[in-house]
Amino acid sequence: MSRIQVESYLSRIDQLRRVSGATNEVIVSQAFARLLEDWATDQKLIFVQQHAYETPQKTFVRPDGVVLHDIRVPLGWWEAKDTSDDLEKEIEKKLRKGYPQDNIVFENGATAILYQNRHEAFRCDMTDPAALEKLVTLFFGYERPEIAEFRTAVRQFGTDLPAILEGLRAKIAEAYADNPAFGTQAAAFLTHARQTINPGLTEEDVREMLIQHVLTEEIFTQVFNDGQYHRENNIARELTKLEDAFFTGAVKRDTLRAMQPYYQAIKANAAQISLHSEKQTFLKLIYEQFYKVYNPKAADRLGVVYTPNEIVRFMIEGADWLCEKHFGKTLIEPGVEILDPATGTGTFICELIEHFRGQPKALHRKYKEELHANEVAILPYYVANLNIEATYAAVAGQYAEFPNLCFVDTLDNVAGLGVRKGTTPDLFGALSDENVARVKRQNMRKISVVIGNPPYNAWQENFNQRNANRSYKKIDQRIKETYILKGSAQNQNSVYDMYTRFFRWSADRVHDDGIIAFIVGRKPVAKGAYDGFRRDLADEFNEVYVVDLGGDAIDNPKLSGTRHNVFGNRSGVAIYFLVKKHRAQGCKVFYARRDEYDTKQDKLSWLGSTPMAQVKFDRITPDKKGNWLGQTENDWEELLPLVSKDVKAGKRGAEKGAIFKLFSRGLGSYRDEWVYDSNRTGLEAKMRYMVETYEATRADPEFTDRNTIKWDAELDRYAKSNIKKQFDPTLIRRAEFRPFSTLWLYLDQHFNGRTYQLPVMFPPGAENPAISFSDPSAQKPWMTISTSGVPDLHLVGPAAAAMVASRYRFTPTGERVDNITDWALKTFTDRYGKSAGVSRDTIFAYVYAALHDPLWRETYAINLKREFPRIPLHPQFGLWAGWGQRLLDLHIGYEGVAPWPLTRRDVEDAKSRAAGVSPRVILKSDPGAGVVMLDSETTLAGIPTRAWDYRLGNRSAIDWVLDQHKEKTPKDPTIRLRFNTYRFADHKDRVADLLTRVVRVSIETLEIVDEIATARRG
Ligand SMILES: C[S@@+](CC[C@H](N)C(=O)[O-])C[C@H]1O[C@@H](n2cnc3c(N)ncnc32)[C@H](O)[C@@H]1O
Repeated sequence: MSRIQVESYLSRIDQLRRVSGATNEVIVSQAFARLLEDWATDQKLIFVQQHAYETPQKTFVRPDGVVLHDIRVPLGWWEAKDTSDDLEKEIEKKLRKGYPQDNIVFENGATAILYQNRHEAFRCDMTDPAALEKLVTLFFGYERPEIAEFRTAVRQFGTDLPAILEGLRAKIAEAYADNPAFGTQAAAFLTHARQTINPGLTEEDVREMLIQHVLTEEIFTQVFNDGQYHRENNIARELTKLEDAFFTGAVKRDTLRAMQPYYQAIKANAAQISLHSEKQTFLKLIYEQFYKVYNPKAADRLGVVYTPNEIVRFMIEGADWLCEKHFGKTLIEPGVEILDPATGTGTFICELIEHFRGQPKALHRKYKEELHANEVAILPYYVANLNIEATYAAVAGQYAEFPNLCFVDTLDNVAGLGVRKGTTPDLFGALSDENVARVKRQNMRKISVVIGNPPYNAWQENFNQRNANRSYKKIDQRIKETYILKGSAQNQNSVYDMYTRFFRWSADRVHDDGIIAFIVGRKPVAKGAYDGFRRDLADEFNEVYVVDLGGDAIDNPKLSGTRHNVFGNRSGVAIYFLVKKHRAQGCKVFYARRDEYDTKQDKLSWLGSTPMAQVKFDRITPDKKGNWLGQTENDWEELLPLVSKDVKAGKRGAEKGAIFKLFSRGLGSYRDEWVYDSNRTGLEAKMRYMVETYEATRADPEFTDRNTIKWDAELDRYAKSNIKKQFDPTLIRRAEFRPFSTLWLYLDQHFNGRTYQLPVMFPPGAENPAISFSDPSAQKPWMTISTSGVPDLHLVGPAAAAMVASRYRFTPTGERVDNITDWALKTFTDRYGKSAGVSRDTIFAYVYAALHDPLWRETYAINLKREFPRIPLHPQFGLWAGWGQRLLDLHIGYEGVAPWPLTRRDVEDAKSRAAGVSPRVILKSDPGAGVVMLDSETTLAGIPTRAWDYRLGNRSAIDWVLDQHKEKTPKDPTIRLRFNTYRFADHKDRVADLLTRVVRVSIETLEIVDEIATARRG
């Protein structure tokens, strides 16, 4: 890789010289800068041009570039000179000026000289690729001892922290038990905290705040040399008092001894950073990293991630521009009160202070009176406070307390909603007198600009992670009255997320005139579920600007979160500016987006160099369904709904019918390893154990082995409600766990997390052909497959729910009823006439063919991401029903189709045999060669390459079979120890046979799809 980069540098230089004929510093140096940047990116380092360095003489110099470690400590510097310059002389000049000498490359496009540890370490002719590669390798290989120590300390910190936490918790518990003074103080603290921060806070939260306070005290002192902080800040003072009541002197030193190397490493690295702004970034990174080790779930729930400065600057400049454009005032002018409601490390306020540089008087007033920030977690609160005050001191040249940072849950603080100038809202109690005074003061202000980066909670979306946010009564009620009321999408629950809550709160807070500037996810602008939200924005605001930064690696698997997303995660990002003018009418929506494949760095550079006034926005006219993006102009609305919630619920007057009456989500078992098995006897053994343990726990909640089975809140509730269970072999049935991977399943409503309507479709003993299809929210390519058994919710893997509509449904007494509606039968009969062979069975088949139509999938791709399928009525009903029946036979009866003639080659694996073990399991396919390798002895050859084109979700049918037969170590400890009997060797012949059939299914499916593609339409 490194040689390739050097070669491409040389050819770039060559090209540039040929094109421009120039040899000056700018041309040549940009090519070298690119080489350093590419190299740095490969190693997860950061390259910055023109970066200031504070010399030992306390002056500032600006080398042409610096390579920084992620924690902002410099790895090395670069200085470019003109080809005609005498490099030696130039170096001497620079060194005299105080340029860094620990690791710096000087070059003039012809010669490069590397200085390391104050001496020339290497020089080379820059046209010699090998020598240049060596120089750059030496430059990047330079290791600062502090960095190495820091990395070791961080690793060690991760290992040591649990023990330290345990020690601290024990000390606090002791204090609660034996130290009445501490107990009283802690109780008072909790009462106040409940009033100010969040009424749901517990003693446990106070303990955690105290722990964070104790652990990070030292870090702040080391980075900012500011020991006073914990005595001066109003919240820190309260916590220090609490700390002093139980934890001082030798006890403190001994408990925190293991933290010392970490603190020392931080101190050594902080000393390497001279620029104040870089110190802040360093602190933010330390804080982010500390939090993720300390409490990863809270870090996720609170959205502990800081906002890159390019974004913050862009948003501030954008808000300034809009403020002037609409209200005739810039942000610094009196009367424009600005609030960051989720301030984190305080980046927005710090950057605002920078933005107001050069206007000391106005800045002072703004700082003291009209800049406001809220934070709910203690650590970021401290970091923000320090950053803001230090930035002010650096910009204004004098220290001043920042009196407007509140330790408060913004969404709970609803007293200020709807406040106009001069109103006095209800007041409430306080955590510290100072803090309450601050919150009260803020609530009385008319806020004109709300700006920030509200939290995003990634894990919240995965129910199993159980990291859901708490509810916010007032705000959630407001969401219900507005965003939900105006929405018509199928699943609107997801609209109660932290983003929309912050939008709702802020829209009510700015009340009549003002601006909201948020960087949040792109879901609200792009997803169907947010149609009501979009409609409401258009009703409440007069201008909406969206700068879509993309990076949605969930929707587009070709993107990488780390490479393409500005926050380095997988969820798409957008910046929103909303303008509200109570006198104006109507709403204009403007939209701009970055190229889908721009890297994070591309996007940040663009934001850093493009003022909002110069962004080319497209004007959007929302469509009837509240869509802003991906508007479709097609006949979707005229097609027949396959399923509908209203029809399923038997809602009267459901305007249009649906082909199926009942539909369901696939099985959400919550405990796949327990309730599924390839072996029926194995499943019985597991489920008997599960039932016995459940019953033993029901009888005695303290039963010693209770935790050997997998519990969840619901199973726990069943046991507490005394629901008696016994093992019932009739509940065992066939299920489609993954495509062409039928397993045994124990289908029971108590031992499966969510059974939805499945028991009505698949009662014990009943066979029922069914069609599964992707839920619109699925993050994998749309799919359909028919089964006769219960389909799993994650039929094509996680993040892609499968829905199912079955041919029949069953009454509680077991009577089989048609699930194709009368409305469907009538509609089809009316369209095709009685002689066309329309029946419920043929409609079922017709629908299945229609769902396989490649033209349909392409034409309605966007609709399918928003809604359940709708079916066209094509000419030639009989032809479509025939294709559908062939597909149903192939897919439901896949185990019985004729084998495709494959060649099986077995070559003994002598090594494994000699060692007395089974051949090594491989289970990989090579589509180009038409081969599948089962293990180190057996391959199947002669598979037509095309067979891999039959795909369900992100995998081919063949690869699903291979994937599902791998030997995986079960995650559940009991399953791993007692029930892990699956060995591929026992199934090899069966899998080889199954593959011959799945190959035929694949080929014949594709042939039918080809025929469908040629069908006459319209
Ligand atoms: C994405 S971060 C903010 C990043 C910030 N701009 C920065 O660069 O550091 C979100 C912050 O909001 C805080 N937060 C989350 N929920 C909050 C709430 N309800 N009220 C106030 N702050 C909240 C979190 O603790 C977190 O520090």
